[in-house]
Amino acid sequence: MNARTTRVLQCSAVLVAAGLVLTACGSSGNSSSSGQSKGPSFTGRGPITYAAAKDSSGVVQKVIDSWNTRHPKEKVTFVQLPADVNQQRQQMIQNAETKSDAYTVLSMDVVWTSEFAAHQWIDQLPADRFPLDKMLKPTVETAKYRGSLYAVPAASDGGVLYYRTDLLKKAGISAAPTTWAEMTADCAKVRQLPEAKGMSCYAGQFEKYEGLTVNFAEAVNSAGGIVTDANGKPDVDTPAAKKGLDFLVGSFKDGTIPKEAITYQEEEGRQAFQSGKLIFLRNWPYVYSLAEKSKVAGKFAVAPLPGLTGPGSSSLGGHDVALSSFAKNKATALDFMKFFTSETSASTFLKDASLAPPYESLYDDAALVKQYPYLPVLKKSILGAVPRPRVVQYGDASSAIQQEAYAALTGDKTSAQALKDLQSDLQKSAAQ
Ligand code: GLC
Repeated sequence: MNARTTRVLQCSAVLVAAGLVLTACGSSGNSSSSGQSKGPSFTGRGPITYAAAKDSSGVVQKVIDSWNTRHPKEKVTFVQLPADVNQQRQQMIQNAETKSDAYTVLSMDVVWTSEFAAHQWIDQLPADRFPLDKMLKPTVETAKYRGSLYAVPAASDGGVLYYRTDLLKKAGISAAPTTWAEMTADCAKVRQLPEAKGMSCYAGQFEKYEGLTVNFAEAVNSAGGIVTDANGKPDVDTPAAKKGLDFLVGSFKDGTIPKEAITYQEEEGRQAFQSGKLIFLRNWPYVYSLAEKSKVAGKFAVAPLPGLTGPGSSSLGGHDVALSSFAKNKATALDFMKFFTSETSASTFLKDASLAPPYESLYDDAALVKQYPYLPVLKKSILGAVPRPRVVQYGDASSAIQQEAYAALTGDKTSAQALKDLQSDLQKSAAQ
């Protein structure tokens, strides 16, 4: 989505511009977490829960264990949610709508902050309790709603290109591709090698879920297009956006992207790359440490995403932790959030699971750069990444994108028709 856009939908644009009360957007009204300067009180100590996606690396439990050892009366239980971000969001919303106290601290995708804050499902947080000035600015912005802090960055995310260094080298290619055309030309060369027999060229995340929104927006942005303009107005029915979508549609048609990738989320793509089925993969940094323990260990590297005429741009991803408004033991929760988002924890998440740290200093740490040579590339990717709109109705806009992009990828609609329909859906959404 457009880098300069934080508001795509009229309702939130009005709220931001005029500073109107939340009820203008249909929120439930007065609560202690309504963004007023006083904010909620954080009282109560005792056991709490941490609700987050299933963790394939084991590092989350490790960090929680180290908290639990030191806080035997304030233990944290890790509630594991499905890997699919859409399902995580659904479960958290259900939890909030029933005012359940089952989830205390929520691991939230960066795109949920506005929606959860506007509905008062999460508490406004005291910004002075967290070392936000040490964090990369775009990551801190994702945690704010109407200028106030509602979450704390735990891990950032930038899309990168994983590629098989061993095969490229064998095929006489000395550097990672910077354009889509170079990437497909590299694949043609690599596929002539006997060891690349049966391999596919490229995959990303194309199942109909948030990951498709990301991959669509990246393709559009990497072709010089935008999804919404600087004022939050949708502007996706353009020749540049079409070139971006056409890259994906054309790649499915000509087999550059394997057919089965239409069912890929992050994990399916990672497994395909790790089992030697893919030459190139668009994915997030977490894949690095897992792939280093797989069959392709030592045979791959990471480069910036390619684009139409030069390097492309990533969407800004990541996860922030927030405090459920309906939780008990909020004093414990706040302390745990501080611990979980500390520089020490971020360093453990990076070392053990290659999660992108929000802390700037970790990207320049010599020992860490030795372990993860791509850290400078990642820092650049995050600083240049395009945020998805920080709007209350983000879920509706994202569903429309998923719907139309999927229709184009599966051949149900032409790219031109899908973009035309998407433009009209986003306009309708914005007018609500
Ligand atoms: C990653 C990103 C998140 C994004 C999701 C899409 O988890 O951190 O921001 O929305 O992938 O699948």
